Amino acid sequence: MLTKQLGTGPQTFDEYRAEGGYEALTKAVTTGPLSVLEAVQASGLRGRGGAGFPVGLKWSLAASQVEATRYVVANGGEDEPGSRKDRILMEDYPHRILEGLLLASYAIGAEEAFVYVNSTYEHAASQIERAIGEATEAGMLGENVAGSGHPLQVRIQAAPQQYVASEDSAAIRVIEGREPLPRQKPPFPTTAGLHGKPTVVNNVETFANIPAILLRGADWFRRQGTEDNPGTMLFTLPANLRRPGVVEAPIGLSLRELIEEHGGGLASGNAVKAVMPGGPSSGLVTATDLEVRMDRQPLTALSSALGCGALRVIEESECVVEILDSIAQFFQEESCGQCPTCQMETNALARITSSIRTGRGSQAMLDQIPKLAAFSQGKGFCGLISMPFPPLMTAVRLFPEDWAYHIEHGACPSPR
Ligand SMILES: Cc1cc2nc3c(=O)[nH]c(=O)nc-3n(C[C@H](O)[C@H](O)[C@H](O)COP(=O)(O)O)c2cc1C
Repeated sequence: MLTKQLGTGPQTFDEYRAEGGYEALTKAVTTGPLSVLEAVQASGLRGRGGAGFPVGLKWSLAASQVEATRYVVANGGEDEPGSRKDRILMEDYPHRILEGLLLASYAIGAEEAFVYVNSTYEHAASQIERAIGEATEAGMLGENVAGSGHPLQVRIQAAPQQYVASEDSAAIRVIEGREPLPRQKPPFPTTAGLHGKPTVVNNVETFANIPAILLRGADWFRRQGTEDNPGTMLFTLPANLRRPGVVEAPIGLSLRELIEEHGGGLASGNAVKAVMPGGPSSGLVTATDLEVRMDRQPLTALSSALGCGALRVIEESECVVEILDSIAQFFQEESCGQCPTCQMETNALARITSSIRTGRGSQAMLDQIPKLAAFSQGKGFCGLISMPFPPLMTAVRLFPEDWAYHIEHGACPSPR
């Protein structure tokens, strides 16, 4: 939980310490690793990197492996278009992320951990580096973490500028000094990750939640958010709102509250046509569904997703064909080329959307999309293969008039 307004976080060790920083760690080393695992499990915290996997379960899986060498990775690769929350967090709350990482390492018995930082985030990397130096000097890190006898080294790894480079198995490969390519799973990183050893990979925001859970307890954490998905979440509000930026809000608030109360509504004064609530792989939610709760299940029921909370608000003056074409091109460019089905599928989708956008398409082409989705299902080393379908299929279903106009006229029904 972020107790201060974003942008004014406790950046130095002393500032962080003054507001209770590292108290969770010093307390945890007296109660033992199991108590950390139990508290995280009881909190119900889900990962904030996009998939929402239960954090306590992931840590317990890694901790239960027979291999004694284990690793932890904080994922700050943040290549998701429209997302800026990990950057703000690393720049403003470096010690909070670090303390969460230390608690995870202590809990699962890892003696080496990494912060994987988007290589264009220079300030974020220097903030994390300073935090590591300060925490080491203060005895929170190094040979004897907070007097526990547990040794831990934390290093920074620059994340290459490719979308798949922040997928967990690709990030692990980069740390191993290899190419940023996802690999087939299972085995999952919790069983065989970095150097083949059990590895926990969590988003940096996920780690930032841990100190408060340990200090204030799982019940306190569960007082916000929903039963299935407790706590608060960072949402990135887009540039076309009156108040763009990163906000922290309880999971389960309505999409309307997020856009209107937190974001101030559309700056143009236009009506909302649709919203992609969770990044470029989330399905479109129409203006009539803005009361939907920002949580996994209600959004899934609308064929959309919470993802990492990077919103895109589509205005009534915009054409979904143009938007969906740029999304299809993005996935085609970012498909790493390892899996033939993914390459074939993303190429085909990009061809379909660009043909329709430029007036060379047909309804028969649109009818191919669900067939491609069925063909690709369950294939591919990583999730990218399935990512283009929710936005495309919802856009086709919800805005047939935009597609029909492009097929007939090769232009937008609503040019800006
Ligand atoms: C193509 C692709 C890109 C991803 N990009 C990110 C990313 O930028 N940041 C992130 O934390 N997770 C990303 N993930 C998810 C990670 O693989 C992993 O699930 C996540 O880091 C786990 O953290 P969490 O459980 O705390 O959410 C990506 C996954 C895929 C398939």
